[in-house]
Amino acid sequence: MEIKNKVVVVTGSASGIGKAMAMDFAKQGAHVVITDIKQEAIDAVVTEIKNLGGSALGIVADVSKEPDTEKLFQEAFDWQNALDVAILNAGILRDGLLVKVDKETKKIKGKMGIDQWQAVINVNLTGVFLSGREAAVQMVNSGKGGIIIPISSVAMHGNPGQSNYSAAKAGVVALTKLWAHELKNYKIRVAAIAPGFIATDMVMKDMKPEALEKWKSLIPIGRLGTPGEIAHTARFIVENDLITGVVIEASGGIKI
Ligand SMILES: NC(=O)c1ccc[n+]([C@@H]2O[C@H](COP(=O)([O-])OP(=O)(O)OC[C@H]3O[C@@H](n4cnc5c(N)ncnc54)[C@H](O)[C@@H]3O)[C@@H](O)[C@H]2O)c1
Repeated sequence: MEIKNKVVVVTGSASGIGKAMAMDFAKQGAHVVITDIKQEAIDAVVTEIKNLGGSALGIVADVSKEPDTEKLFQEAFDWQNALDVAILNAGILRDGLLVKVDKETKKIKGKMGIDQWQAVINVNLTGVFLSGREAAVQMVNSGKGGIIIPISSVAMHGNPGQSNYSAAKAGVVALTKLWAHELKNYKIRVAAIAPGFIATDMVMKDMKPEALEKWKSLIPIGRLGTPGEIAHTARFIVENDLITGVVIEASGGIKI
């Protein structure tokens, strides 16, 4: 699909990877919908795109809430009477061990709380389900089809300390594969991206320098990825009509 003049919705696009993807598509001449939970941060990205001569619309929506996602995709479609690409990127982390055991006494001293589990499932899995479903509604109704790009993670393979996140990101891959089949008759392609360690606030915020060095040593290319490299991967999926039903690992080769 050619990107110029297409309508692209990127959830969670007020920061990090989502913002990089939105900026990249805007620079290619797409009409970009910036959607996130924080109005001010959305406005800042919309202004940045408009200052570069691009086309952007800001919509506040919490992807874990059904009325929000229904409204988001209806408003996104109504803006230009089209919806061509939906990138399901909004996500959160609430890391923790399944059970925490005291090294000396070998007694349980904590466990992953149900709130901690549910918060991540709500945004990273239910949010992808709801926004993928609403994108499909608009794409089927338009009769023109489109492309859905869910954002998974290499944690889909099962990363210790991330029961909630890994389960959600593996679920996202299952949805990607089955949607590619369910939606094929409506000219909709579905392909996921599983980033590795990407230098955004999500990973850098609480990272100690020693931990950063340790992670780098486990990445075959010897460095973290950049948000721009994930944006490049999304652009490749949009432009290449052969790509559907797969997950592209953009990770520098790290094995979880
Ligand atoms: N950074 C990495 O190393 C990495 C690796 C693998 C996968 N990912 C995935 O990439 C995506 C983007 O991550 P990032 O690193 O840019 O993080 P980030 O925290 O910079 O961006 C995530 C955005 O999602 C928004 N968001 C959170 N909850 C939301 C909700 N309920 N509704 C709508 N928006 C919401 C946040 O406000 C934020 O702007 C996430 O799905 C994340 O799991 C990131």
